[in-house]
Amino acid sequence: KIKIVTIGGGSSYTPELMEGFIKRKDHLPIKEIWLVDIEAGKEKLEIVGNLAKRMVKAAGLDWEIHLTLDRREALKDADFVTTQFRVGLLEARIKDERIPLSHGILGQETNGAGGMLKAFRTIPVILDIVEDMKELCPDAWLVNFTNPSGMVTEAVMRYGNWNKVVGLCNVPILCRKIAAGALKENEEDLFFRFGGLNHFHWHRVWDKAGKEKTREVLEAAYTSVENMKNALKSFTSANSGVQNIPNISFLPEQILNLGIIPCMYHRYYYITDDMLQEELEAFAKGETRAELVKRTEAELFELYKDPNLSIKPPQLEKRGGAFYSDAACELINSIYNDKRTHMVVSTRNNGAISDLPDDVVVEVSSIITSGGPVPISWGSFEPSSRGLLQLMKDMELTTIKAAVTGDYGTAQQAFTINPLVPSGKIAKKVLDELLIAHKEHLPQF
Ligand code: NAD
Ligand code: G6P
Ligand code: MN
Repeated sequence: KIKIVTIGGGSSYTPELMEGFIKRKDHLPIKEIWLVDIEAGKEKLEIVGNLAKRMVKAAGLDWEIHLTLDRREALKDADFVTTQFRVGLLEARIKDERIPLSHGILGQETNGAGGMLKAFRTIPVILDIVEDMKELCPDAWLVNFTNPSGMVTEAVMRYGNWNKVVGLCNVPILCRKIAAGALKENEEDLFFRFGGLNHFHWHRVWDKAGKEKTREVLEAAYTSVENMKNALKSFTSANSGVQNIPNISFLPEQILNLGIIPCMYHRYYYITDDMLQEELEAFAKGETRAELVKRTEAELFELYKDPNLSIKPPQLEKRGGAFYSDAACELINSIYNDKRTHMVVSTRNNGAISDLPDDVVVEVSSIITSGGPVPISWGSFEPSSRGLLQLMKDMELTTIKAAVTGDYGTAQQAFTINPLVPSGKIAKKVLDELLIAHKEHLPQF
């Protein structure tokens, strides 16, 4: 019987996760699910935790749902630990987004300056969790959703010396659906290979006959706002693939020249000016993504309070995490049952991408076995993507090192090499302001 622990259990995404487990009830003999939060999230945990209990009951299941602020009690003898916490909650995200924008540079929660600050706050906490796991559940798998997911996963392996960790994201799932929509094919009939980093991966697609369809997908979905909308029609109301990123068109000739399919987040790197302009407009109106999400979250928790609600309400679709549970719960299912499902995960490279060292974390197509993910070879990238990928990986490694050591020079280095942060005085100014604003969550600096 399985014991699952979810850290950050007070997240508004918890009903999504519960739905995923309930869907797989015949394959996962769950005994208990522990939802863990902290004092600041106590009220949220109470509300969403009670909804989780109602969902399980309505499904006729006898799973125990425990709500607790005692992480160590929860971790004792766990089989799977999933993480979906945000250090500093949404107030901190508002700072991650607004402070860079107040200096006219991109403000995003997983990219650029904001993403690096989120890493600085999160990595010390995840390393603490790993220390607890070594003592309390040394055989458990850590399934990480906490952003920046790739960097957090890398920190767990590199500095926590914990190898039973998998990083997840819903974006690859959405990319597959876009390709299927663009080709008017069943997703299951297509074969995909993904390679890159979290929120910075590319993919290629083949049909049932083994014919490569990558260029067709690029032409049919990635060369205009309209064709992206059409590709998305069948499965989501989102207009860019994820709710949190505006559907602004890539430059068609450049994208076709790439020859591989970018992810939604590549917009920040390939059309930085358009994205920045969009964000600055939102900033001026007090409508950054973090601010919008705060309002959505308040609405969601009002709904969650309803004692008659015992399903995941459709309003959760306003958040960017659509299909979140298909990643998390299917990963657990595949590890537990050695299903060997083909999934895209953040895991140790082990040669899958020949342009990067073996021991770094990459986001790649993998076969999920009972021993964890076995990455599928991607091969090498063309010069048009290779250097950028290597730079981003090195930026991640530098960011993680700064998060672990609290070394100010290393933090400045990470800011300097990040393609979304202009170097020099402005990098220093934004870094200093963010370090001060987040002081209470940055004991290492
Ligand atoms: P949120 O602000 O609601 O935070 C979730 C919960 O974490 C809160 O209840 C908070 O109190 C709790 N928390 C904070 N610090 C904690 C700690 N030290 N220990 C335990 N709990 C703690 O965040 P959210 O918007 O629901 O997102 C949750 C996390 O999941 C974020 O990191 C987000 O980036 C990530 N996320 C990732 C993906 C993905 O694709 N990987 C998708 C969706 C969300
Ligand atoms: C997508 C990304 C996640 C991110 C989320 C943000 O799902 O894959 O990594 O956390 O969007 O959505 P939000 O609703 O919080 O802006
Ligand atoms: Mn993600």
